[in-house]
Amino acid sequence: MSSVAVIDAATLAAAARALESGQLVAFPTETVYGLGADAENPAAVSAIYAAKGRPQDHPVIVHLAPEADIAHWACEIPPEAHALAEAFWPGPLTMILKRAPNIPDAVSGGQDTVGLRCPSHPVAIALLRAFKGGQGGVAAPSANKFGHVSPTTAQHVRDEFGADGTVALVLDGGASQVGIESTIVDLSRLGTHGPVLLRPGHVSAEAIAAVIDQVPAAPDVAAPRASGTLESHYAPHTPVAMQDTATLVHTLERMAEAGRKVALIHYSDLWTLDAAERLPASPEGFAHALYAALRAMDARGADLILVEAPPQDGAWLGVNDRLRRAAHGSTGIVHGLLNRDA
Ligand code: TXA
Ligand code: MG
Repeated sequence: MSSVAVIDAATLAAAARALESGQLVAFPTETVYGLGADAENPAAVSAIYAAKGRPQDHPVIVHLAPEADIAHWACEIPPEAHALAEAFWPGPLTMILKRAPNIPDAVSGGQDTVGLRCPSHPVAIALLRAFKGGQGGVAAPSANKFGHVSPTTAQHVRDEFGADGTVALVLDGGASQVGIESTIVDLSRLGTHGPVLLRPGHVSAEAIAAVIDQVPAAPDVAAPRASGTLESHYAPHTPVAMQDTATLVHTLERMAEAGRKVALIHYSDLWTLDAAERLPASPEGFAHALYAALRAMDARGADLILVEAPPQDGAWLGVNDRLRRAAHGSTGIVHGLLNRDA
């Protein structure tokens, strides 16, 4: 596996040829790094699942160049989809639409829908334009092992896949601007269910509603499988717990008394701990830095990563969603660490 800091035309061409020959290429997007394969090559798509250790029935997002024809990928496309593409593409919005008959099962995990997104990162756009003359689709989940924290730098990707030789090339486009995965809106059952917000992200439900005059609903239990909707997703190896600021002050004192090592992710100006990262107090700034902070704190060998819970309002929905999943299953861990003998 080689890695490239400056992307020149020859490197982009090599990356496009690697994809065309069925290899995996990791590339930057504005949300997180993707692990890409030719969406119309089922063997290449299978290689993504194998590399990630991801179940075969989880669909992947197909990434398209700005000029691509979405009618090649989807059918029964509602006018709302064109309106959303017009408003938010290139950008961090994925739309779930009815899958066109010629699109392989592999990308949709056997479902009759397909997830489409046109990313805005210039390296992603250049790669998509170079691949199959801009007419192809690159299937790409986040470039991390299944269930682990998504990568927001090329180094994160190397940390995930460095040793196993399954990734032909990692394109380095710097740190991902948005920092959390794209918003996913399901438009495939618009007539019966209206738009459904499968995953919150930088493009808010309000922004979508402003374009299509319908507020996307939260998913129901019968919603299509989406691995980003599994409770245990986005987790580092160290247990994560979230607490409001006042509780956190108290917990940190008690953890110190109990001899526990805590790594802290916070935004208030209250602590100066050794194993800590202070993130910006804005939803955009916090999201941008969150995954790198989780990885860095995970590497500190702490008993626990404590996160200062962000505000609950709508602008923080995407961040709170990822944090809640990262912290899933660690209920009781704070109590356990404080009460077990050290
Ligand atoms: O920001 C992003 O979306 C990143 C970058 C690389 O573009 N990609 C990403 O992919 O987050 P992944 O595979 O980690 O998450 C894709 C999510 C999964 O939860 C998947 O189940 C859902 O999209 N998805 C894809 N196609 C779908 C479909 N046809 N129906 C329902 N969910 C779908
Ligand atoms: Mg993912």
